[in-house]
Amino acid sequence: MTAYTNKNHNNGLCKLYFNKPLANVIVIGAQWGDEGKGKITDLLSRSADVVVRSQGGVNAGHTVVVAGQTFKLHLIPSGILYPETECIVGSGTVIDPQVLIEEIEQLKALNVSVDNLFISQTAHVTMPYHRSIDMASEERRGDYKIGTTGRGIGPTYADKSERTGIRVLDLMDSDLLKEKLEWTINYKNVILDKLYNLPPLDPAVVITEYLAYADYLRPHVVDSSLQIYQAVQAKKNILFEGAQGTLLDLDHGTYPYVTSSNPIAGGSCVGAGVGPTIIDRVIGVAKAYTTRVGEGPFPTELSEEVGEILGDRGAEFGTTTGRRRRCGWFDAVIGRYAVRINGLDCVAVTKLDVLDTLEEIKVCVAYEVDGETRHHFPSNAVDFASCKPVYKTLPGWQQDTTNCQKLEDLPAKALSYLKFLAELMEVPIAIVSLGPSRDQTIIVEDPIHGPKRALLDADGTPVVAGS
Ligand code: IMP
Repeated sequence: MTAYTNKNHNNGLCKLYFNKPLANVIVIGAQWGDEGKGKITDLLSRSADVVVRSQGGVNAGHTVVVAGQTFKLHLIPSGILYPETECIVGSGTVIDPQVLIEEIEQLKALNVSVDNLFISQTAHVTMPYHRSIDMASEERRGDYKIGTTGRGIGPTYADKSERTGIRVLDLMDSDLLKEKLEWTINYKNVILDKLYNLPPLDPAVVITEYLAYADYLRPHVVDSSLQIYQAVQAKKNILFEGAQGTLLDLDHGTYPYVTSSNPIAGGSCVGAGVGPTIIDRVIGVAKAYTTRVGEGPFPTELSEEVGEILGDRGAEFGTTTGRRRRCGWFDAVIGRYAVRINGLDCVAVTKLDVLDTLEEIKVCVAYEVDGETRHHFPSNAVDFASCKPVYKTLPGWQQDTTNCQKLEDLPAKALSYLKFLAELMEVPIAIVSLGPSRDQTIIVEDPIHGPKRALLDADGTPVVAGS
């Protein structure tokens, strides 16, 4: 048992975590990504000794606002903003060294130390041909395009599976890197030329570029699985920070409109190199409505005015690509699916304030397919594309919630809305976020150490922390 009194927390919320048993926690996105995981992991990072990214790459974009300053992180875990927290970019991630170095330099310029940043030697490295192939293959797909971030993520993971990938440990050995890249670039040049009609890459130029990246990153490179294991043995608190979201999971998402890694809770263990038995809690993050970037079916998507309102009030533009996100009503079928696939203990609902002005709010409670009502998420993409949402309409609260500090401060209709979501998802809501700042947050129940219980008592009385 440890009291985290050595941390310089600047917000009363952290008292919830003092003198509590240690815990290892996974935070994942419960929808299509962009749920606001950055803010939630940043909040939870204050009680973590180690924060680990386990999958994805610079396709992710986490926005964190601290003291009015906005940090946009792509690969570096949000815990970097706490100087005493070890931040590990794990084995299951893919690393674009150019973007990573830019990110490090941006943090340094804002006086954020990166001495606590560690990079797995077994993570795979994104190369220039991965980016070119990502963009060229999207173009070639035409109407079948996925709408990728164009960051070379899919091709990097494809090489990993094909066993032609370059790993961080290859970067660290200049002779090995030269040998591997000579062969690989000559091989990729055939694909660039013959398949995509793109100019070939000069192996010498790429080797020089990547050797420079290697020198820059060398002090941060570690055996990440071992470092995490040692943290487990030392009984440190570890936070596994998910990227993307459940429905972008390669195996369990809306294939083929998915990313190329496993953003679900199980993926955190694989990508970090830890056994599932060390995990104490899995927390899902879901927006109070739904958004999606890229292509693919989206049953509750709103094309009319309300969608615009959500997009504008929620500033729904991708952190990585700047693309406008598609917006829709909350989909509880997806919520229940996320609970099932990730084994969620509780959920953090974000951006509730975005709904503040609406007269009425719809929630998708089930789908209708060929006249049949379905309560479970279909694993068949064709079925999913034909799902029509079955809505329940709730009254809006039409009041500003951005300064609410506890559940009792919320308008009754906002509380009823949250209660309805918790009931439909069959999971407690532990955190409610009402704006980008750390202090625009209601901690309903300590999400890490609190008992697993419902948001509201059966008679509708709010259950608050400590009660
Ligand atoms: P990729 O990960 O760049 O290959 O893109 C595959 C799909 O995942 C596309 O629909 C992207 O828009 C989506 N995607 C990837 N990363 C994120 C993210 O961090 N947030 C939301 N969508 C993402």
